[in-house]
Amino acid sequence: MKVKARAPSNIAFIKYWGKKNEKLRIPANTSISMNLSEAYTETFVEFDNKLSKDLIVIDGKSVEGNEKERIVDHLNLIRKMAGIDTFAEVVSKNNFPKGAGMASSASGFAALTVAGTKAAGLNLSEKELSVLARLGSGSACRSIPDGFVEWKTGVKSGDSYAYSLQAPGYWDICDTIVVVGEKAKKVSSTEGHTKAFSSPFYKARILGMNKKVKEIKSALKNKDFTKFGRILEEEAINMHTVMMTSKPPLFYWLPKTLEIMQSVITWREEDLETYFTIDAGPNVHIICLSKDVKKVRIKLKKIPGVKKVIVNKASEGTHILK
Ligand code: PMV
Repeated sequence: MKVKARAPSNIAFIKYWGKKNEKLRIPANTSISMNLSEAYTETFVEFDNKLSKDLIVIDGKSVEGNEKERIVDHLNLIRKMAGIDTFAEVVSKNNFPKGAGMASSASGFAALTVAGTKAAGLNLSEKELSVLARLGSGSACRSIPDGFVEWKTGVKSGDSYAYSLQAPGYWDICDTIVVVGEKAKKVSSTEGHTKAFSSPFYKARILGMNKKVKEIKSALKNKDFTKFGRILEEEAINMHTVMMTSKPPLFYWLPKTLEIMQSVITWREEDLETYFTIDAGPNVHIICLSKDVKKVRIKLKKIPGVKKVIVNKASEGTHILK
């Protein structure tokens, strides 16, 4: 059976950085995210008896080496669950730059999980799909459910999964991704996670997490944008402080990244309420209410060196395309 799925990328407001269990990708802390309407991966999977190996094409290029190995490992998990040993053809397309800190692994593994399991004849629940997607890439588990999502850390594999806190239409907030660099990052997030514990600030980060998660969930529930924005911005700075103070240090920012961050702070002083967050890459995500998104776009047009702007609303999770 040929199956195609579309999975959104997601932006974390409370980040996942560091794992309790590397192999099973069980995170050290709970994270909170929103699925993105305009940054997604579409993946087609077919298990075919005529194939003598797995064929994987991403964005028009045949994939080999470590990247292929990681995808084949995931296909092996699916084959094991389905009790089959057929090879697969996987054709995947991102509508945004891959590997530049825009969670292409999240949408990629979420789409592969949903299309792959269905193509293998499995019918998994949302929870099971989220657990399986997590084994491919941690943050992929958050791209499975709809809208605003919580991924509870969990103790063992079966209880580390994501679920929806609110539907996409619950709150009219936008994430404007400001692309300032499109090159794949030098240090992948998988490698970065292993360095988190070497930062002298990591313990303090984890100690403050439960309170932070509770507060942002309450801000989301009450649609308190000022509280929500302050927490998510402080959280991004907190995570990047840990990254920059790890051994060896990880600097994901470019000079433009800092320029955009400072602009956001200035706009806020001028009463344009915006906040920033950044993943493991140089691109800045500007969070604002949808009523202000036009003003943000106009401001960004005046900044030279901004390569591209992608405006997202909250979206549904991963689904099969007919
Ligand atoms: O799922 P991974 O291994 O790509 O890690 C994602 C890490 C961050 O994007 C930096 C934070 C997050 O929670 O999305």
